[in-house]
Amino acid sequence: MQKQIGDVTMINRMDDPVCPTSVDEATLADAEVLECPYPTYDLLREQAPVFRDPRTGMYVITRYEDLRMICTDTARFSNHRPSNDHANLTGNALLAHRLFQEKGWVPGVSLAGRDDPEHRQMRRVFDEAFRPKRINDLDPQVRNLAYVLVGNFIDDGRCNFVRQFAVPLPLIIICHQMGAREEDIWQIKEWTDAWFKGTGFGLTAEQVIWSTEMEIQAQHYFQPIFERLRQEPDGTLLSDLVNTEIPEWGRPLDDNELHAVMMQDTFVGGSETTTNALSAGIMLLARNPDVWARLKDDPERHLKTFCEEVVRLESPVQGLTRTAKTDIELHGVTIPQGAVIDARFAAGNRDGRQFACPHDIDLDRRNAASHLGFSSGTHYCLGAPLARRELYWGFKAFVDNVAEFRLAPGENDLRHYPNYALRALNALHIEFTRA
Ligand code: HEM
Repeated sequence: MQKQIGDVTMINRMDDPVCPTSVDEATLADAEVLECPYPTYDLLREQAPVFRDPRTGMYVITRYEDLRMICTDTARFSNHRPSNDHANLTGNALLAHRLFQEKGWVPGVSLAGRDDPEHRQMRRVFDEAFRPKRINDLDPQVRNLAYVLVGNFIDDGRCNFVRQFAVPLPLIIICHQMGAREEDIWQIKEWTDAWFKGTGFGLTAEQVIWSTEMEIQAQHYFQPIFERLRQEPDGTLLSDLVNTEIPEWGRPLDDNELHAVMMQDTFVGGSETTTNALSAGIMLLARNPDVWARLKDDPERHLKTFCEEVVRLESPVQGLTRTAKTDIELHGVTIPQGAVIDARFAAGNRDGRQFACPHDIDLDRRNAASHLGFSSGTHYCLGAPLARRELYWGFKAFVDNVAEFRLAPGENDLRHYPNYALRALNALHIEFTRA
C-alpha cells in the first residue's frame, strides 16, 4: 500500500500489516507477518496465550507474566537446544557439522544455550569480563565514537543511518574488545549477516553450505587472536574470556567454545541487536515528531526512557526458544515434555496488562525499564549495561547535531530482514539539517 506521510511516499508495512481475524488463520512462520507481527501478537495474547503454531509446531507464548515465568522457571523451561546434541544430527544440521569438522571448529555450546549449573559456572566468567567498572571505562570511548560517526556525515545533509551509524557504533566497540581490527568491520559484518541468515527456516543445502563456510572463514580470523591472547593477555574482554579458568571445569573455555561465544554471544548477540535498536529508534522518531520535539527540548531528562521504549516497542530480539523439561499446563493447554516453546518477548512488551497504551511511545512511562527486551532471570542479557550506553550516546549524538530530519522521500521501503528471532531494518535513508 502506498502511504503518504508528510511529503514522504513509502510502502509502510507498519500501517498495512497482516491482521488475522481468527486464531485459525494465525502463524508467525510467514515473512509478511514478521514484517509487522504486532496485530498477530495482539490476537494471540487475547485469544490463545499458549498457541501451537501449525507451521512450526512451536508453542508460542505472548503474555508478559507468562514470559517472565518462563524465563525464571529454569526447572521446567530449558535453554538447551536439540541442535547441540551432535550425535542426533540429520539433514542440514549434519551437513554443517561435517563442514565444521573438516575445515574449521565445531562450535561449542554458547552461554545462552546452556542450563544451570553449567550456565551459572560459565556466566561467572562473563560477568567478571563485563564487570561494571569495565563498562564504565568504555563509556568515553562509546561517547567519542558516537560523535565522530555523526560528524562524518553531518555536513552531507543526508545518510543511510543503518550503514553509516547503527552498524559501525556497536561493531567497532565490540571489535576493540574482541581483538579484531576496526578496519575489518565490514568483513565481520558479512560474517555475522551470513550467520544470521543461516538461522532462517527452510534453508536449502546451498544456503547452509554458504553460511557455514562464512562462519568457518570467521573462525580462521579469530583463531590466531585466541592464540595470541593466551601468550600475551591484554586486558580486553576477550583476553579475560580466553584466559580465565572456570573453577568447576578446571580449565578456561576451549577453542570450540570460544568460537561459539564469538559468533553467537558477542558479535551477533552484542552488535546486531544494538544496531537494530539504534535504527528502530530513529525510525520511531521520524514517525513521532512530538517525541522528537521533547527529546530536542530536554535530552538529559528524556533519553533514558526513550532508550527503554525503543527496546520495548521494537524488541530487536523478538523471541527465543525454550524446551519443556516436563509436561506443562498453562491456560488450559498441555505443552508436552520436549516441545519447543517460542517465548515472544516482543509480544509481552506490548501487553496492556503490564504497559498502559502499550503501542505508544511514552517518555513519562514509569515502568518502561520492566520490558522483556533484554529477557529476564538467569539468562538476562549480559550486555544490557553496554547496550544502554551505546543507545544513550548514539541517540544523544544525533539529537545534539541534528536540528530537523525526515525520511528521504522515495528512498525507503522500511522493510525488515525476514528473520524469526531478530528484527533488523534493512536501511534507513534520512535527510536533515544540522543543529
Ligand atoms: C539492544 C541490544 C541488545 C538486546 C535487545 C539484547 C537482547 C538479549 C536477550 C533477549 C537475551 C536473552 C537470551 C535468553 O533469555 O535466552 C540476551 C542474552 C545475551 N546477550 Fe544481549 N542484547 C543486546 C545487547 C547485547 C550486547 C551489547 C552484548 C555483549 C556485548 C550482549 C550479549 C549477550 C549475551 C552473552 C547473552 C547470553 C546471556 C546468558 O545466557 O546468560 N547483548 N540478550
